[in-house]
This record gives sequence, structure tokens and C-alpha cells, in this order.
Amino acid sequence: MSESPQQTTLGDLVECDLVIESVVEDLAVKLPLFAELDSICKPEAILATNTSTLPVIEMAMATDRPDQVCGVHFFNPAPMMSLVEVIEPLTASEATIASAIAFAEACGKSPVRVKDRAGFIVNALLFPYLNNAARMLENGTATAEDIDEAMKGGCNFPMGPLALLDLVGLDTSVSILDALYDEFKDPNYAAVPSLRRMVSAGRLGRKSGAGFYDYSRK
Ligand SMILES: NC(=O)c1ccc[n+]([C@@H]2O[C@H](COP(=O)([O-])OP(=O)(O)OC[C@H]3O[C@@H](n4cnc5c(N)ncnc54)[C@H](O)[C@@H]3O)[C@@H](O)[C@H]2O)c1
Repeated sequence: MSESPQQTTLGDLVECDLVIESVVEDLAVKLPLFAELDSICKPEAILATNTSTLPVIEMAMATDRPDQVCGVHFFNPAPMMSLVEVIEPLTASEATIASAIAFAEACGKSPVRVKDRAGFIVNALLFPYLNNAARMLENGTATAEDIDEAMKGGCNFPMGPLALLDLVGLDTSVSILDALYDEFKDPNYAAVPSLRRMVSAGRLGRKSGAGFYDYSRK
């Protein structure tokens, strides 16, 4: 696959072998985009999504090439994180999955293959922990700093859960939890009230300058 220069309109994607969608975590936005990409991109192109949790099958079925749609899920910050989850919806061909794995390897990443279930591997396991850290802060068990310090020092994690929520973005995190809860109805996936209130207040984490921590002077 050849490298393309930066493009700014969908029409510029016509010659791409692989397109990875990474717009806001909202199926209502992604589905029409997949239909549009399907009409624009060359017939042999693979259309992939970087979604963290949403059903890839829905995006596949929004196209006339469901066998050529899969998930290619990078982790934040993508240049530093070695993992890519390659997500396999029911409709994907083996050739599509093999191409996505080859692409991830060509990017220097370590791909893992996973079925199309909300949260795939990492976020299905990670988000109950992040949500419960926000709950712990909400309950007044400890300060944000001490919760993060405890998980770094006690578990050797590179960053604490509340700092990680700020990095992911609280709006994206609530969308991820909602998609997980929608699929599994597990109370651990039900976003705690304080997360939603922070999103309503525009405290989205690093990208807005404030979340659990203040980034305005950093
Ligand atoms: N934030 C993370 O840590 C992270 C990690 C891995 C994957 N992802 C996934 O990547 C995707 C984007 O996440 P994010 O955190 O960057 O979201 P975000 O909400 O911060 O940014 C989304 C961007 O998409 C743009 N956008 C919205 N609709 C669009 C459209 N129709 N066409 C083109 N652009 C459009 C918005 O203007 C915005 O710039 C989501 O699917 C998310 O689940 C996020």
C-alpha cells in the first residue's frame, strides 16, 4: 500500500487501498459516512473504522462491500502505543482481515485479532476500572491525585485511571461506556453520574483544558 499525502476532502480518498475512519464516537455520524465512503472509494478498497466500541457490523452493512469492512483500532497516543486491535465483523472476508493485519504490522504495530463485540478486548476490560475510579472519587474515598498515585505505585501502571480518562476524553469515554452498557447491560459499564455532568460542563479532559485535572497552564 502506498503512502498518501494529507488530504482534506472525501473525494481525495478515491485512490486509497485502505481508509480508516476516525470521526466522533457516534454511530449516527459514522453510518452515513460509511455509505458515502462506499460510493466514493474504489471497489477493491478496504473501509476500516477506528471505533473504540461501536458495532463494526453496522458500519459494514451501511456499505455495499460488507466483506471489505473491518475495525483497525489504534491506541492513544497512536505513535507510541504498540497495539492495534483488528476487529472482525461477521461479514469480513479473510483477505480483508489479513490485509488489515499486514497494514498494522507495516506500521510497526503488534496487531491482535478480535471478534466484533463492544469494547473488543482492551476497552471491555479497561472501562469498568476507569468508571469505578470515577465512582471512587465521586464517593469521596480518596482524592484524584491519590487514586492515580495508588494505581501507578501499586500496580506499576504508567498513568492513573483519572489521568487516562482525561487523555481519552470524557465525552469519548462516556460514549464508550454507553456502547458497552448497551451491549452487555453490566452495571460496571453504566457511566457514573459525575462523568456525564463533567461532559455537560464542557470538562472533557486534556482536549478542553480541564477534566479531573487542570491543563490550562501546562
Ligand atoms: N480518544 C481516544 O483515546 C481514542 C483512542 C482510540 C480510538 N478512538 C476512536 O477514534 C474516534 C475519534 O475519537 P476522538 O477521541 O478523536 O473523538 P473527538 O470527538 O475528540 O474528535 C472527533 C473528530 O471528528 C470530527 N468529525 C465529526 N464528524 C465528522 C464527519 N462527519 N467527518 C469528518 N470529521 C468529523 C470532529 O470535528 C472531531 O474533530 C472514535 O471512534 C474513538 O472511539 C479514540
